[in-house]
Amino acid sequence: MTAKIRCAVIGLGRLGYWHALNASRIQHVEVSTVCDVDLERAEKVASKLGITRFTTNPEDVFQDELIQAVIITTPTSTHFDLLKKASDTKKAIFIEKPLTLTVEEAKEITKKIELSQTFCQVGFMRRFDPAYAEAKRRIAAGDIGKPIYFRGVSRDPQAPPPDYIQNSGGIITDVSIHDFDIARFLISSEIKSIDTKGSILKYPFMSEYNDVDHALSFIRFESGAAGDIEASRNAHYGYDIRAEVVGTEGTIQIGHDLRYHNVNVLTKSGKSHDILPGFSERFYDAYSLELIAFFTDILEGNNSAVTARDGLKALEVSEAANISLKENREVSI
Ligand SMILES: NC(=O)c1ccc[n+]([C@@H]2O[C@H](COP(=O)([O-])OP(=O)(O)OC[C@H]3O[C@@H](n4cnc5c(N)ncnc54)[C@H](O)[C@@H]3O)[C@@H](O)[C@H]2O)c1
Repeated sequence: MTAKIRCAVIGLGRLGYWHALNASRIQHVEVSTVCDVDLERAEKVASKLGITRFTTNPEDVFQDELIQAVIITTPTSTHFDLLKKASDTKKAIFIEKPLTLTVEEAKEITKKIELSQTFCQVGFMRRFDPAYAEAKRRIAAGDIGKPIYFRGVSRDPQAPPPDYIQNSGGIITDVSIHDFDIARFLISSEIKSIDTKGSILKYPFMSEYNDVDHALSFIRFESGAAGDIEASRNAHYGYDIRAEVVGTEGTIQIGHDLRYHNVNVLTKSGKSHDILPGFSERFYDAYSLELIAFFTDILEGNNSAVTARDGLKALEVSEAANISLKENREVSI
């Protein structure tokens, strides 16, 4: 591979910084521009990563014909407009999850992306995590028989700040959406109905945003499989992401260890190990591998590994879950 892909990163907050760093480490990629509405942040990231150009205006990225690809890591409420501009200006797109805030927006943008044959990968990085990828391989190899039950647990160590919650779509669209995607991926079937309950257990401010800090969904798949998905902002002990796929001949557990470093401490009071503190530590490899896949697939002319339609499917499940939560009933998708 000789040609370098020139790209820009838009949105340089909690995750955007990691994407800019990871992209700048890929051999066949040049991050030519970083963009954030916060000038100080854009300047700081550019200087830290040795990137020559920074801007507060995404138009500078879209109007630059030499930029072939954009990584969009801005608040979810901004995704729709930025996706439209990226597609109109013929950039390949890496978009953080969720694809958009609403299903209506997701349908419109998916249609646009598919009609214009824009390359688009959605940031469902769990698919690239070595443990989830190995689980997928073992399920496909028939090692647990027919998959009949999915369990997903996604617990954050604390609530994000109010302005993040406000622009996130709520805990289902922000957190459970990862489980909706990975459940579809591992079970190889679409989710056909969902029944969601939720409560505010720790963060009263969530009520201002019609959000909850703990939710549980029961799901049914078209294949006949079922499952449950828990989402929480209340895991004071650390970042707790687990999954299990039960099959007719065995079960596969993913991420149950929760340890960060592979170190045990033994004293007279017992044996202990540390716990994963956050998403950037748990999915360190996955964030890097998903971008390698993004740029490699563009260069090699492959289809996207996680399409806009995958983003739409997961969002349809989220929307049904939010209706279920509000109306206290099972909702079909
Ligand atoms: N895949 C994952 O595990 C994961 C983890 C965290 C966040 N996310 C997703 O990433 C996105 C960003 O989340 P975050 O936690 O990094 O948020 P953040 O609030 O930390 O960062 C967002 C950044 O975007 C900037 N910004 C806002 N509007 C902009 C615009 N129009 N143009 C340019 N910059 C703009 C803000 O100034 C900020 O620096 C969200 O969609 C979120 O769902 C995904």
